[in-house]
Amino acid sequence: MSERKNSQSGHQSLMASTSSFCFLAALLALVSWQAIASDPSPLQDFCVADMHSPVRVNGFACLNPMDVNVDHFFKAAMLDTPRNTQDSKAGSNVTLINVMQLPSLNTLGISIARIDYAPLGENPPHTHPRATEILTVLEGTLYVGFVTSNQNNMNKLFSKVLNKGDVFVFPEGLIHFQFNPNPHQPAVAIAALSSQNPGAITIANAVFGSKPPISDDVLAKAFQVEKGTIDWLQAQFWENNHY
Ligand SMILES: *[C@@H]1O[C@H](CO)[C@@H](O)[C@H](O)[C@H]1NC(C)=O
Repeated sequence: MSERKNSQSGHQSLMASTSSFCFLAALLALVSWQAIASDPSPLQDFCVADMHSPVRVNGFACLNPMDVNVDHFFKAAMLDTPRNTQDSKAGSNVTLINVMQLPSLNTLGISIARIDYAPLGENPPHTHPRATEILTVLEGTLYVGFVTSNQNNMNKLFSKVLNKGDVFVFPEGLIHFQFNPNPHQPAVAIAALSSQNPGAITIANAVFGSKPPISDDVLAKAFQVEKGTIDWLQAQFWENNHY
């Protein structure tokens, strides 16, 4: 009897320690999940992406470091070249150097882009699911902004007019845009992003240009308009201005 009691209380304390372990594990998982919402830190000096490896990991498998040479870290000048913006309905053209263009960016959590804006052109509202962006204006003027998440029950707009040499930050995941308000002059910006593969979700394209389309019942209610307005929007051509 007393043995049984002992084993019962042993069982109970095991249960208690198991549940506190579960709680701790859940807490740790939550903390580490938040910590890996951005690119994880490298565990070696470099891990140049082996694009031909059949191994599937988060990112890319590493080339043998003995086979790595200086050219893996180099991309011949291409960001000095103005991009064509005439064919773009939005009037912008983003040239991104991410891990696909420069495999040594693998595991390093960084990438760079040149953005060309036609007169009155814009980089339409979009978000980078995996990166904060820091942008500087090389030529011209940009009206830029981002909108917060629904914290404090509102989506607050932070916006600013930037001139040549000015710097602006777009926090990770938030919807942001850049617009060239000058009807006569183009604008150029360089942006650095805190991911080897920032990703870009252009809001209008994702919502109205998805394939297959989102039901117009869903979108009419979400945007508080008639279904015909949604059908018209869905019939437009939603080009990708990110390369
Ligand atoms: C962006 O620029 C490249 C190179 O000039 C061009 O091939 C591409 O068509 C342009 N995209 C748009 C949307 O204008």
